[in-house]
Amino acid sequence: MRTSSLLAVAAASIQHVYAAPYDAEIASALQGRLRIGDAGFTCRVLEAVLGSEVVVTSQDLEYTAQEQANYSPTCWLSAACFVSPEDIDQVSAAVRIIGALQTPFSIRSGGKNLNPGFASVDESGVLLSLAKLTRLELAEDEGSLNIGPGVLWDEVYDFVVPKGLVVVGSRYNKVGVPGFLLGGGISFYTNQYGVAIDNIKSFTVVLASGKVAVASSSKHCDLYRALKGGNSNFGVVVNFELYTYPHETLHWQTRGYNPEDAGAILEAYAEFQLTGMSDPLARVDMNIFGDRPIIIMIYNGGAPPPGTFDAFLHLTVPFEELVPPTSGTYLELQAIQAIRFVKEHPHNYGETFSHTIDGTYMAEIEQLFLELMVEPSNTYENFSFLWVPVAMPASVARDDNVLGIEPVEQQWHEWMIEWDNDEYNDAMLELGHNITAVLTAATEEAGTLLPYLFMNTAGGSQPVLQSYGEENVAFMKAVAKRYDPTAVFQRQFGGWLLRDL
Ligand SMILES: Cc1cc2nc3c(=O)[nH]c(=O)nc-3n(C[C@H](O)[C@H](O)[C@H](O)COP(=O)(O)OP(=O)(O)OC[C@H]3O[C@@H](n4cnc5c(N)ncnc54)[C@H](O)[C@@H]3O)c2cc1C
Ligand SMILES: *[C@@H]1O[C@H](CO)[C@@H](O)[C@H](O)[C@H]1NC(C)=O
Ligand SMILES: *[C@@H]1O[C@H](CO)[C@@H](O)[C@H](O)[C@H]1NC(C)=O
Repeated sequence: MRTSSLLAVAAASIQHVYAAPYDAEIASALQGRLRIGDAGFTCRVLEAVLGSEVVVTSQDLEYTAQEQANYSPTCWLSAACFVSPEDIDQVSAAVRIIGALQTPFSIRSGGKNLNPGFASVDESGVLLSLAKLTRLELAEDEGSLNIGPGVLWDEVYDFVVPKGLVVVGSRYNKVGVPGFLLGGGISFYTNQYGVAIDNIKSFTVVLASGKVAVASSSKHCDLYRALKGGNSNFGVVVNFELYTYPHETLHWQTRGYNPEDAGAILEAYAEFQLTGMSDPLARVDMNIFGDRPIIIMIYNGGAPPPGTFDAFLHLTVPFEELVPPTSGTYLELQAIQAIRFVKEHPHNYGETFSHTIDGTYMAEIEQLFLELMVEPSNTYENFSFLWVPVAMPASVARDDNVLGIEPVEQQWHEWMIEWDNDEYNDAMLELGHNITAVLTAATEEAGTLLPYLFMNTAGGSQPVLQSYGEENVAFMKAVAKRYDPTAVFQRQFGGWLLRDL
């Protein structure tokens, strides 16, 4: 491209927000010869404007810690620099500079996403880390909670539960708030209150122009709807305002079963979904570790009415009582959920698909998955795997988000593979794609496949946004054009981006 026209674009996007903070600094840093799309140059401009406290390059001691902050080492990419703004004005300045200089970038909050390049970027780009934005503040009427993007769910729960409140957040509490919410979010409270994204009162967003917009049901309501499932396509979310609900005493128990009974457990799960789950206070979460099923039966509010969990309690197969029937607070329930964060930095990867409920089919598809696991288990040292069927009620389908979920009882399936050795990374991603190809084909053949792909557990090459349906895609594109006319957010390094559709 000709430099003169690029400069015009750069100048235009800067003039657009002339009254914003850091204007003078940005204007002076962008004097002279500009190097467009050159991450090294962009990092120097960012450092000149925001200071060396905020911008970490490979010259700095802190670089390795920044590079290795993502959960899975497959995502440890060597960004040209890591930028960690200390307030919203700095996020705005960073976005304007990155946009004006047309530099590839990624956004990282909790860093738990398992897809390389989604919350990480190589030396061709800038990583915008929101870890320092840790606001936690109840609204005056305590009906909502403001959360900054650098907060993890355990910090949220530690803050609200002692005040007698809960929010619809992650089951696993070391996950970041933004990635979890923007992708939809499955919570222990989902049967009662829907997916997490449907429990947001407002988003505060830094747009490509550097302007800050508050999106809610009454302001910028198009942006509000698009953000409910559209992830990072419209801006950087710097505040999530979540509705709060009264905390009730919860009741739970956990059982482990023998591998050979997995089929019976999956059939019981389907039965529970069609019977006990008609009570929105009841929920069962299931993880099949290797081939050993573990379930947790949860009731939100005292002891469950008789019959609620009969699909499991009446089973005659042997079980190990891992946690006996217990009543307690949400914090106590969280404490037993650390199970999936045993290793600090596991190499892992997973994908997703969804289907209607059919107990026999669920048992069959798990068998198919186990068969696919035999060869890799023999080939790759320290290889392990996890199979997670997630029972979702028809009530999660709503049209005030872009997810396009069909209003039927359904299963959102998640599987995950884990390994230790960097040398396996490429083979493991390829294996991942193979697994989904086989499972999806079988599900389609059985006539149970649903289109929806749950972003939070999806593989990077899965067509998540397309799965929301054509109308929602057209809507998201229109919103992106309105709020980001120069398509700055489509210049992200990776992610589920509208540019790919
Ligand atoms: C062990 C484990 C347990 C999990 N349990 C659950 C669960 O119970 N329920 C569930 O729903 N999910 C669960 N997840 C999935 C999790 O929600 C996703 O991985 C999510 O993306 C993590 O959020 P994060 O903030 O850590 O994301 P990051 O890795 O930081 O980012 C993920 C994506 O969000 C975008 N993004 C991040 N911050 C912003 C922002 N401020 N503005 C705009 N875009 C942004 C990034 O561009 C990126 O594409 C689990 C994951 C793991 C590893
Ligand atoms: C496999 O795990 C063992 C035990 O944790 C460890 O000592 C070994 O180094 C691991 N192998 C690889 C290839 O990382
Ligand atoms: C994936 O599938 C292809 C085609 O069937 C096969 O050649 C390849 O070996 C598989 N890869 C892995 C890692 O299993």
